[in-house]
Amino acid sequence: MSSDEHSLTVGPGGPNLLQDAYLIEKLAHFVREPVPDRVYHVKGGGAFGYFEVTADVSQWTKAAFLNQVGKRTPMLVRFSSVAGEEGYADTDRDVRGFALKFYTEEGNYDLVGNNTPVFFVRDPMKFPDFIHSQKRMPDSGLRSNNMQWDFWTLSPESAHQVTILMSDRGTPRTWRNMNGYSSDTYMWENAGGEKFWVKYHFKTEQGIQNMTDAEAKAMFGQDLDYHRRDLREAIDREHYPSWRLEMQIMPYEDAAGYRFNPFDITKVWPHKDYPTIPIGRMVLDRNPENFFAQIVQATFDVANFVPGIGPSPDRMVLGRMFAYGDSARYRIGPNYAQVPVNQPISEVHNYNKDGPMRYFHSGDQPVYAPNSYGGPKADPQRYRDPGWFVDAAEIMRTAYEAHRDDDDFVQPGTLYRQVMTPTDRDHLVGNIVWHLSQGVERFIQERAVKDYWAKVDSDLGARIAHELGLAVVAR
Ligand code: NDP
Ligand code: HEM
Repeated sequence: MSSDEHSLTVGPGGPNLLQDAYLIEKLAHFVREPVPDRVYHVKGGGAFGYFEVTADVSQWTKAAFLNQVGKRTPMLVRFSSVAGEEGYADTDRDVRGFALKFYTEEGNYDLVGNNTPVFFVRDPMKFPDFIHSQKRMPDSGLRSNNMQWDFWTLSPESAHQVTILMSDRGTPRTWRNMNGYSSDTYMWENAGGEKFWVKYHFKTEQGIQNMTDAEAKAMFGQDLDYHRRDLREAIDREHYPSWRLEMQIMPYEDAAGYRFNPFDITKVWPHKDYPTIPIGRMVLDRNPENFFAQIVQATFDVANFVPGIGPSPDRMVLGRMFAYGDSARYRIGPNYAQVPVNQPISEVHNYNKDGPMRYFHSGDQPVYAPNSYGGPKADPQRYRDPGWFVDAAEIMRTAYEAHRDDDDFVQPGTLYRQVMTPTDRDHLVGNIVWHLSQGVERFIQERAVKDYWAKVDSDLGARIAHELGLAVVAR
C-alpha cells in the first residue's frame, strides 16, 4: 500500500472514499480484535516448558508420556486469577488457576487445577452461583464482600477452601512460589486394566512464598501485572521455574470403604493415609512470542485425556467435562484445536468437517463412518472409555451419601490448629476480619462467626467475633 498514515480522500480537504479498502479492512479488523473472555479466570499469563518423568509409574498408569524415566513432554502452562477481569490487580486475594497442557505422543492431556488442594463447592450445580457471587453485582457493577460471605456462609462446604483463601496462601508472592493441585480426583489405569484414584500435587521448587494482606494491597498501586511480569522476567533471566509432581494414589477398592467420600473436592486425602509419591518434574523455560495467539487463544479442556488417565466419580470433574470444550468453541470457534497452540503433536483423525477457520483438512477422505473407503477407524481396545462400577442405583438429584465423620469443618480446623503457625493464624484472623468488615451486613457477619468460623475452630470464631465487636458464640 502507498501509505499507512493517510486515508484516501478527494483532495486534501475532501471526504473519505469507500473504495479505500485498506482503511476499511484496517478498521473492520480492529473492531474484531477481541475474542470473548473466559467466563472467569480471565486475567492470567503463561509459558512453555517440559515435563520430565523421574520415577517408574507403569504399575499405576499406561499413559505413554509417563512410561519411561527421563522421558520429556512439551508443555504449556497458564496461571490465572479467578474473579478479576483483564487489567485487574494480580495480587488481589483470590485462588490462582494452574492449567497445564501436555503435548503427548497420544494427543493433548490437559490438567486444569488450582493453587489449592480443595474447592468451594462439591456439586457443579452450585458452580455458576459461586462464580456470580465472586464477581460483580447486577445493579452497580461493583464487587461485593456481602455477596461473597452470603454465599459462603450458606454453603458450609466452602469452609475448607475459604480457610486457605483467607490465609496468606490467598495472596501468593508470585506464580513461581505457589503449588498447583489437581484438586479433583482422577483415575489412572495400568496396562493390565487395574484402576487407581489419583490426586496431583505440583510442589514449587522455588519454595512457597506469600504476601501479607498489606503487601498484596500495596502492590496494587505499584504494578497491576506483578505476577505476569515476574514470570516473564524470570524466564528471560533464565531462572526457569520448576515444580515437582507428587501423586497421591488410592487403590480402586479403597474408595468405597474410606472414612469420607474421597471424590468430594472439598476434602484432601490426609498425607498419612496416602503419602505423596514424587514422579516427575515440570520446568518452564520459554516465554510466549505472542500473548494473544498463544495464551489468550489457548484452550484447556478437562475432557482431554490420554489412554491410562480418566475422570472419577468426583462430581465436579464430571460437571467440567462438557464446559471447557463448550467454552473453547464459543471463544475461539469450533476449529479451536487447529490454532497452533492447541494443536496436538500427534496425528488426529475424526469425521468432523468444515466450520469457520478450518485450516487442516483431510482432502478427499470419506466424511462419514462407517465407510468402505479406508477412512480412520475407532479402536475400542486401545481407546476404551475409562469407567468404573456404579451400584445398581437410580439416577437422581441428591447430596453425596452421608459418610461417617463427613464434616465440612474438620479439615479446616486441623489446618488451623495443627498446620498453621501462630503467625499464620494471626494473619488468617486479620485477613478474615478485614474482608468481613468491608460492607458485609451484620446478620451475615453473625452467621459467619456462629455457623462458620466457630465451627472450624471455637478459638478462631471467638477471635473474629471479638475483632468484629460481636458477642462471642460458643462452639
Ligand atoms: P499434613 O500435616 O501431612 O499436611 C499438611 C500440609 O498442609 C503440608 O504438607 C502442606 O502441604 C500444607 N500446608 C502447610 N502450611 C500450610 C498453610 N499455612 N496453609 C495451607 N496449607 C498448608 O496433614 P494432612 O495431610 O492430614 O492435612 C492436614 C490439613 O493440611 C488439611 O486439612 C488441609 O487443610 C491441609 N493440606 C493438606 C494437603 C493434603 O493433600 N493432605 C495439601 C495441602 C494442605 P503442601 O506441601 O501441599 O503445601
Ligand atoms: C476455566 C468451567 C470448576 C479451574 C474455566 C472455563 C470454564 C470453566 C467454562 C473457561 C475455559 C476456557 O474458555 O478456556 C467450570 C465449571 C466448573 C469448574 C462448569 C464446575 C463444575 C473448576 C475447578 C477448578 C477449575 C474445580 C480447579 C480445580 C479452572 C482454571 C481455568 C478454568 C484454572 C482457567 C483455564 C485457563 O487458564 O485457560 N472453567 N470450571 N475450574 N477453570 Fe473451571
